[in-house]
Amino acid sequence: MTALDWKPPVRPELADAEPYGAPQLDVPVALNTNENPYPPPSAVIADIAAAVARAAGELNRYPDRDFDALREDLAGYLATESGVRVDRAQIWAANGSNEVMLHLLQAFGGPGRVAMSFAPTYSMYPEYARDTHTGWVQGRRHDDFSFDFDHAAALIAEHRPSVVLLPSPNNPTGTALPHDVIGRLAELAGDGLVVIDEAYAEFRRAGTPSALELLDDHPNLVVTRTMSKAFAAAGLRLGYLTADARICDALRVVRLPYHLSATTQAAALAALAHAPVLLGQVDRLRAERDALVAWLREHGYDVADSDANFVLFGRFDNRHAVWQGLLDHGVLIREVGPEGWLRVSVGTPEEMQAFTDALTKVEQR
Ligand SMILES: Cc1ncc(COP(=O)(O)O)c(C=O)c1O
Repeated sequence: MTALDWKPPVRPELADAEPYGAPQLDVPVALNTNENPYPPPSAVIADIAAAVARAAGELNRYPDRDFDALREDLAGYLATESGVRVDRAQIWAANGSNEVMLHLLQAFGGPGRVAMSFAPTYSMYPEYARDTHTGWVQGRRHDDFSFDFDHAAALIAEHRPSVVLLPSPNNPTGTALPHDVIGRLAELAGDGLVVIDEAYAEFRRAGTPSALELLDDHPNLVVTRTMSKAFAAAGLRLGYLTADARICDALRVVRLPYHLSATTQAAALAALAHAPVLLGQVDRLRAERDALVAWLREHGYDVADSDANFVLFGRFDNRHAVWQGLLDHGVLIREVGPEGWLRVSVGTPEEMQAFTDALTKVEQR
């Protein structure tokens, strides 16, 4: 058989699938992946570099499989950030919260089981389901993106999902879930897990609580976090969750051995030691977000309330044309979410100025 005749025997459901990912274009203003626009300060870079150098001296050895020191420090960080103290056995971590979520579906999904979310929602969730042979059911939110509890309750009763995945603040809308909804959902889900994906939690507005506060009351509740967003460490690839220790034990069964490299653990520990500095721009980004929401509304756009570091705005008859027009002005945002809407990440004041200038020009055409 020649190479031309041979077809890789890829799973049929993957045959026409495109790899997930926002375009990584070299543009002056990248506001498309909800990163923190502020790089780590030099003192933090020096400490991370020194920690990685120490780890490099022992690269002949496998790293700590159970990353105990990192679990301890992540628990300490959460206690400071949210006031909720958990045991290190209640922490799990992996290469980004994407991998944490994959572990969850590997352990709690699978053939004959269902995972569920409510659109608009994070677009990776169906991919985790597909990759773990888990059935996928997607409900919907209200038109204003608030959570439709009655609809969710009916869908849960019908499908009995083993995992419900809910971002709060939601990506791509920025909407946070009220506490009572999370608590009632956890009750309704029975034995099933309710995963509150708090990738953007640190950006929540004052008075918006974290689901961490509900952990003690609901053993089936899981709260995921990441160092990719507020923590300004997307390149580190470190996501984590907090849950009942028995859930974490189940994840230990499905993870690959030594999945968190020695250099990742060293860099994450060094970054955590500088949490206040790395999170130092969060207030500024929150203020920038609120100013952006106000600007968009003043200029006649519909804008979803946001507790995150991005804003969903619309509505456009041809959103692709607007996205392309902005790109032509060097500003890359994200064409995602419901038809007619676009999502822009919050950047530096200069980047926000570039965005509003470009939008004004594009919309005048
Ligand atoms: C809602 C949500 N969850 C999880 C992630 C994954 O983040 P990471 O894998 O970088 O931790 C993202 C990334 O954009 C996200 O928007």
